[in-house]
Amino acid sequence: MRYLFIAFTSACALLFYSLTPLHGAESGRVAFEKRCTGCHALDHEKSGPRLAGVFGRRAGSLSSYPYSKPLKKSNVVWNEATLDKWLADPDSVVPDSDMAFRLNNPQERAAIIAFLKGAGK
Ligand code: HEC
Repeated sequence: MRYLFIAFTSACALLFYSLTPLHGAESGRVAFEKRCTGCHALDHEKSGPRLAGVFGRRAGSLSSYPYSKPLKKSNVVWNEATLDKWLADPDSVVPDSDMAFRLNNPQERAAIIAFLKGAGK
């Protein structure tokens, strides 16, 4: 009986783990692909600017992308704090910028920011 119980609880744990969309090292990449790649890629412009190397970059600083004026003129540098605010509510960082998107889940924001931090140039 006890073994049945152990088998049952570990099956439940496994099921729960696999149903949780954000787990392990890949969570940031998966969330990025789900949430951001409709408008962004890492290495080329889409309707939004490329995001490889965005961590540590000054906002609106790629010459290859036609940013909104407010973003271009902002003196924001992308780091954990500014990215977290930007993803939760872009207008709270740069009013009248052009990113029509909000991500309310703080864990997902953190996972995506960690992913972008490691996403090269
Ligand atoms: C609906 C389309 C859309 C989605 C979805 C979207 N973005 Fe954007 N993003 C944009 C646009 C458009 C801009 C340019 C804003 C401007 O010029 O004011 C932008 C700008 C940015 C910038 C500033 C880049 C720079 O070079 O200064 C960052 C960082 C960013 N997005 C991150 C993200 C992340 C991370 C996600 C996913 C969680 C995401 N975006 C989802 C459209 C989108």
